Formats: sequence, C-alpha cells, structure tokens
Amino acid sequence: MVFGVILAGGIGSRMGNVEKPKQYLKVGDKPIIIHTIEKFIVHDAFAKLIVLCPKPWVENTKKLVDKYLGEMASQVVVLEGGSSRNETIMNSIRYIESEYGLDDDTLIVTHDSVRPFLTYRIIEENIKYGIKYGAVDTVIPATDTIVESQGGDVISSVPDRSKMYQGQTPQTFKAKKLKDLYESLTDDEKEILTDASKIFVIKGEKVYLVQGEVFNIKITYPYDLRVAESLIQDQKKK
Ligand code: CTP
Repeated sequence: MVFGVILAGGIGSRMGNVEKPKQYLKVGDKPIIIHTIEKFIVHDAFAKLIVLCPKPWVENTKKLVDKYLGEMASQVVVLEGGSSRNETIMNSIRYIESEYGLDDDTLIVTHDSVRPFLTYRIIEENIKYGIKYGAVDTVIPATDTIVESQGGDVISSVPDRSKMYQGQTPQTFKAKKLKDLYESLTDDEKEILTDASKIFVIKGEKVYLVQGEVFNIKITYPYDLRVAESLIQDQKKK
C-alpha cells in the first residue's frame, strides 16, 4: 500500500510573527496546505492521505479539508504531528501500523506541507522508484557553489559543485525500514538527524535520486510567500 504523508506539524518560526503557522496562510485563494493536499489527491495510488499538524490545529485542519476538498475529503485523515519533523513522520507510520498493518512493502511519500508546487511527475517517480529502491529523495542540482565551514568564520572546504544537489521533498521510504532504522538511533543521533534520508545514508542504505523542479520551493521566509503568490498567479494565466 502507498500512503501520502503531508508534514504540517511545524510552527513556521522563520516566517516571523504571523498569526498562524505558515502552512495556513493563504496564497491565491486558499491556504498553502490545501494547495499541497490537492496535488496529492489527484493521484489514485494512495490508500490514504495522512496530514499531520500541530495539536491545536487538528480541528481547524479538518474543517479546511472539508471546506475545500468536498467529497474528496474522505481520502484525507488529519492527525497530530510530533515534536520534530521525524517524529511527525513516525506518527504517520504508527497510524498506518494500527489501521492497516505494516509490511515490508508499505510505502510512504512524505512531503512538506509548505511546498505546494510539486508536480504529478515528481509524485509518480517517487512512487515508482520508492517501490523499486525503498528510499527516494527529490533533489535539484545546486546552482550556487556550496561552501563548507566547520566554525562559521573560515572555509573548511569547497565541494565540487557538479556533485552537489539541493534537497527538496517528497522523500519516499519503505515505512517499516524507516521505522526500524529510526528506532535504532540513540537520542543524540535523533537530535542531529533532522533529515529522514540521512537516516538511511548513515546506516549505509542507498537513497535513489529523483529530479525535482526549481519551482518546487519551500515557503520558509516572508520573501518566499511573495514568490509563491506570483507562481500561483502565473499558473492561473496558463
Ligand atoms: N514539520 C512537521 N513537524 C515538525 C516540524 C516541521 O511536520 N515537528 C513540517 C513543517 O510543517 C513543514 C516541513 O516540516 O511543512 C518543513 O519544515 P520547516 O520549513 O522547517 O517548517 P517549520 O518547522 O514550521 O519552520 P521553522 O523552521 O521556520 O519554524
């Protein structure tokens, strides 16, 4: 079985002092989180779309899903997220395990709720290669040179740009494998491993790369909101 997992458990602190977590801000005529859910709902591969948000926002999220998605809302379940992004993913796996059971082939396509511009092709390839390889990350080639600095004041190294990529989402995993790897981490490792793909990498597991899109941006800062607004207006013109 394949599940869409929409991660909306964050509070969006880098967006500044806005009245609600950034995933609930409107872009175009609807909240960002609804744009994102809509991209998933048109796929028929998903047994369920699992949306995870901060506890105080669960009821409101259910209302938004009903309001904007109409009869498609039955494909969505809204749950409480966790204390970190990975804990939010784990909550989705616990839900799948209790409601559907977990086997070696259960696949989760995890996606940031604040990346509303992903495409059908990206989701499709995540599922295809997720089934084949068990772990997939969506990336684009790095456009800027990446500079590493251990202490933050001088350069430690300048990796070859042609081998550098910027991570996006979706990230797709065999859920049981991810759970087993995550549970094998120490608390200190859990603190550092903010990226789920990295868990596979440090455990020596292969993560397949799917090509993302430059416009598959993550809305993080107020500037990104302005970019998102113009991308939406462009889409409307097409
Ligand atoms: N996320 C989550 N659960 C958490 C933390 C983050 O599901 N405990 C989600 C966010 O809601 C977001 C995605 O992970 O959709 C990417 O994270 P980020 O952009 O860092 O979101 P926030 O943590 O909300 O932002 P900030 O770091 O600015 O507080």
